[in-house]
Amino acid sequence: MTHTHTAEVGPRGFPTGYMVEDVAITPNVVLAPMEGVTDLVFRRMVRNLGGPGLTYSEFIASKNLTMGERKAERMAQFDPEERPVALQIYGNDPSYMAEAARMLEDRGATILDINMGCPSKAVCKNSGGSSLMKDPELAVAIVRAVRAAISIPLTVKMRAGFDRARVNAPELCEAFEAEGVAALTIHWRTREERYGGTRDVSAIAEAKRRVSIPVIANGDVVDVASARAMFEETGCDGVMVGRGAIVNPWVFKQIHAWLRGEPVPEPSLDDRERLLFEYYTMIGEALPERAILGRMKMVTKHVAQAVDPSGEVLRRPVLQSKSVEQAQSLARAAFDTLRELELGVHAAS
Ligand SMILES: Cc1cc2nc3c(=O)[nH]c(=O)nc-3n(C[C@H](O)[C@H](O)[C@H](O)COP(=O)(O)O)c2cc1C
Repeated sequence: MTHTHTAEVGPRGFPTGYMVEDVAITPNVVLAPMEGVTDLVFRRMVRNLGGPGLTYSEFIASKNLTMGERKAERMAQFDPEERPVALQIYGNDPSYMAEAARMLEDRGATILDINMGCPSKAVCKNSGGSSLMKDPELAVAIVRAVRAAISIPLTVKMRAGFDRARVNAPELCEAFEAEGVAALTIHWRTREERYGGTRDVSAIAEAKRRVSIPVIANGDVVDVASARAMFEETGCDGVMVGRGAIVNPWVFKQIHAWLRGEPVPEPSLDDRERLLFEYYTMIGEALPERAILGRMKMVTKHVAQAVDPSGEVLRRPVLQSKSVEQAQSLARAAFDTLRELELGVHAAS
């Protein structure tokens, strides 16, 4: 399989980076946009770990952005050092999409991404997100309008199709490439499969055969084994990780190390404790007072999934805490207990 536009091919025969026009994406393991999850705080945390080659904003309603709506404005924020960064928009009106894209280019986005994958009823009702896949003419009209409005690279993120009877990602990818789209991300599921369905990555492989721009594969990549299967079965240029990064934000480094033929790093308990406390600090700095404790509890739950399967040591005490200070001291104590348990396990074995 050839990877004409990729920056490098690693010792395992898979690419270790790709180019979106003149933007180098290395590692070629990128963080998926996730509304309500991948806000500034989450992206800062992941970047601090030395993780993904590219981060995306949450999806921004194009019309709302052009009207200065607060939520859309908040979602459009990114750190000056968050580079490269893709800003993602959705909508069904080519002129609002073009206007929003222009605004985001002016604000310094590296890449503009169009969402054609969102399965939500609210988004599809207005012919945005994945319902655009049912209307290729409108999808192409949107791509054309946005392409004409900006000079930064334009990418599209889609699903395999609207449903299994209409798996049209490969045709759409060809049409988008002809319109000047610089890279494509495909989630192997259809809209009707939402987050279920039986794994079938053939539409990604087919799209990859039909276009010469980079194709990024997405859906259930959570570790080295699932990334390897995706590279092998689709010939993709990179993988995108969403839900897997919530529980394991080291996944980007791990997959990239494997692609480069290096030892795969495993975070220690101390690493996880450091991550949690850095996270607490970032939350304290970035969020309004009333939102801090709730967000601390949410991230504690995620960290606890890996280190405290029963939830008794870390998750439950922190979730029951009544203040930021109490949550912090209970989390500290929990890690001390977990370290003792770990030592006990090692001493016994
Ligand atoms: C909570 C949540 C929010 C999401 N929000 C977005 C979004 O704003 N834009 C988008 O393109 N995809 C969104 N997605 C889809 C993901 O980007 C990704 O395509 C999907 O989760 C499959 O990848 P995964 O199996 O690695 O999670 C969202 C997914 C989840 C779980």
